[in-house]
Amino acid sequence: MSACTETRQQMLSYWKGHGKPSLEMMMLDSNAASIADRETQEILGMLPPVDGLDVVELGAGIGRFTKHLAPLAGSLHASDFMQNFIDKNREDNGHHSNLTLAVADATQMTMPADCCDLVFSNWLFMYLDDEEVRGVFARILDWLRPGGHFFFRESCFHRSGSVARTDNPTKYRSPQKYNELLLEAAYGSHRFGHVFTRPSRTYVSTKGNRNQMCWLVRKTPLSSPDEIDRMKAAHKSLMNGPSDEKLEFVLAEGSEAAALCDYLGVQPGETVLDVGCGLGDTSCLLAKKYDANVIGFDIAGPLISLALQRANQLGVQNVLFELADIETCELYEEETFDVIYCRDVMHYVTDKGSVLAKFYKWLKPGGRLCLTDYCPLKNQPNTVDDSSADVSAAYSRDAYISALKSAGFADSTVTTDDLTPRFESAALAKCRILEQARHLFVQQFNESSRFEQAQVNWQRRLAMCQSGELAWILYHVTKQ
Ligand SMILES: C[S@@+](CC[C@H](N)C(=O)[O-])C[C@H]1O[C@@H](n2cnc3c(N)ncnc32)[C@H](O)[C@@H]1O
Repeated sequence: MSACTETRQQMLSYWKGHGKPSLEMMMLDSNAASIADRETQEILGMLPPVDGLDVVELGAGIGRFTKHLAPLAGSLHASDFMQNFIDKNREDNGHHSNLTLAVADATQMTMPADCCDLVFSNWLFMYLDDEEVRGVFARILDWLRPGGHFFFRESCFHRSGSVARTDNPTKYRSPQKYNELLLEAAYGSHRFGHVFTRPSRTYVSTKGNRNQMCWLVRKTPLSSPDEIDRMKAAHKSLMNGPSDEKLEFVLAEGSEAAALCDYLGVQPGETVLDVGCGLGDTSCLLAKKYDANVIGFDIAGPLISLALQRANQLGVQNVLFELADIETCELYEEETFDVIYCRDVMHYVTDKGSVLAKFYKWLKPGGRLCLTDYCPLKNQPNTVDDSSADVSAAYSRDAYISALKSAGFADSTVTTDDLTPRFESAALAKCRILEQARHLFVQQFNESSRFEQAQVNWQRRLAMCQSGELAWILYHVTKQ
């Protein structure tokens, strides 16, 4: 019997054993009723506008989401492999003329290419093995029209529901594993581009569970034939969950982070956004030492996955990690944060004005923005080859201040601190640590060229600071 057939039989018998068409079974939680409304609204709120779209819903169950999608969608095709779930779904939602319902196993479904704008699923892929997920992801990419969205939500790392289960074949993957499977689904001239990965807030606030992860991805054209190979290589290098010991040197800038955290003056219970949080060391520090409620986000999936894993290992509770691109994300409500902290990220950002305007919008009145960035001192002679220092898009201090003013902080005083001396000692320590850790780094990241590049970047930045061509500046501003 092939592995897939075995999985199919296992999963079918699992769902036959949990086949009562009820809310408790859909959520596999005996307290389902107490959170269902809030959770459903939260999930629906993560979708792009559904109005008029052609939507496919997989693993639709008794229709918790079908009920809300059908009145909005242009057409909705909802399916599930359990006959009695579809019967119940039809009983409740069958009156919608734009809805078709089918008993179908998602692993065997076929649909025409470019037939829909949105594929939606909530807790499906954890009932498929890796091979099956790869196959369904690739087909979804085919079904979607260019630019179309795919949303899915899964329990990661461990189970979440409270319903008793004797045998549990569910696959609790890491978010990083799903990211890898999404990459592998690249098909023809398209791939899945990330919009976000984020945990369900309802599970965080009601159960202290941050492992209910939601993905929104988009059918995106490949920019070059080797794009997927390059992305896979980058993912692979961080995939084999490093031990704490191996992570230590990556987190060595923690002491620097600790000093910067003191600048922030974070009070217990304050809400902090750590933009470009990387491996999440500062986020964890702010949550643990300062007792803040922290959200860290970063554009790098592997880093976010490791940050989450590490926070779980360290038992840090009040921190969430999300995957998003600061240039495109619209993840947060207006006036959400007391503090936004953004260390050395802005020099990567093309449209700094619109990112600073987002920071302004997301801050509560009286909230503080604290960002550090490199600052090229243009009037200094260019003695260092800065081509690989990676700071060519950095702003001068004056340009930052005026961009902050235009972004909304017009009535606020922007204070700046020249932290270059601190940076010099940090960079020297970093270069020393990198050299000592060469063996571990290469082993960890699986590529010696990345080690060389990281080392060169730090050395160039350091040389530029020493020759007076580069400063490291901290900007601090309060929203009036
Ligand atoms: C936890 S329930 C969630 C149901 C619904 N999406 C919700 O959130 O209320 C998981 C659903 O996935 C369905 N399912 C599991 N494996 C499937 C497969 N291979 N094809 C189609 N449906 C599947 C189950 O029958 C069940 O309805």
